[in-house]
Amino acid sequence: MSASEPHPALEIADLRKTYANGVEALKGVSLSVADGDFFALLGPNGAGKSTLIGIVSSLVNASSGGVRVHGVDLLRSRSDAMRMIGLVPQEINFNLFEKPFDILVNYAGFYGVPRAEAVVRAREELARAQLSGKAEVMSRTLSGGMKRRLMIARALMTRPRLLILDEPTAGVDIEIRRDMWRQLREINAGGTTVILTTHYLEEAESLCRNLAIIDHGRIIEHGPMRALLAKLDVEGFLLDVEGGLPATLPTLENVSLAAVDAHTLDLEMPRARDLNSVFAALDASGIRVRSMRPKSNRLEELFVRLTTRDGAEAQR
Ligand SMILES: Nc1ncnc2c1ncn2[C@@H]1O[C@H](COP(=O)(O)OP(=O)(O)O)[C@@H](O)[C@H]1O
Ligand SMILES: [Mg+2]
Repeated sequence: MSASEPHPALEIADLRKTYANGVEALKGVSLSVADGDFFALLGPNGAGKSTLIGIVSSLVNASSGGVRVHGVDLLRSRSDAMRMIGLVPQEINFNLFEKPFDILVNYAGFYGVPRAEAVVRAREELARAQLSGKAEVMSRTLSGGMKRRLMIARALMTRPRLLILDEPTAGVDIEIRRDMWRQLREINAGGTTVILTTHYLEEAESLCRNLAIIDHGRIIEHGPMRALLAKLDVEGFLLDVEGGLPATLPTLENVSLAAVDAHTLDLEMPRARDLNSVFAALDASGIRVRSMRPKSNRLEELFVRLTTRDGAEAQR
């Protein structure tokens, strides 16, 4: 491949998955993750995150659609694509009766890394995971946070260009979570593309530059974290208007007004803006508002669900 990498780290096109029991877990998902990005796939439980990660890491067969890893087609050149991916599954799945050093070296050996090289890498990864002092203890004796860091260290033994983590911090306490965030930031700063799935809004916000939000098997948002937060800062109302609407609607700074029908106005404005000046302007234009209701916003509803779940877990 040329030095100037023209391909995204991951490209997914119209991916669909229907499980044997008829559940449509993915209903045509498309997304793209740039080389070097730190990307979150955010969504509530059951949204389809693990199914998507499972397909990308070849654990699950897609029903249809395409996946490319740095331009390499996953279906046509599976082993070439897989070589570029490191996967950290949600459940701790190393042998608890092995030592961290052996877990790393054996894993690399399984993927064809010569032993001498694997030993060098294992030392490096143990240091990066702050586990050098635990290289030779029984893994069973590691703390929960150490076990998580070892899972990440293991995935890095093959030097993947793309590191994928499925809910790496689900159910772990905040201290461990912060530790893992530090480790992941460092990995990304070293040039590795990182994709993680999470149902913690706070995690996506703290770590990721870009994200996609998935709900019920569909992508409902895809773009920079910052743009998403700006979008959440806007609120919308539907106004029921007495009599008819004038031919021209008033113009107000930062406020968007649109007629839905002869008696209904759609109003969008920044959350911090006061409503009095808006109503004064409407009044001056002869518009009498009889009632108003907040516009239902799918994204906002989803975020409320995500944050309340977050809050419920924090209280446990
Ligand atoms: N092996 C399976 N067989 C049947 N249905 C499944 C299977 N795995 C997941 N599902 C269903 O697919 C949907 C998406 O699940 P999943 O991808 O695990 O979501 P998430 O990781 O976002 O929680 C859910 O409705 C789930 O019950
Ligand atoms: Mg999952």
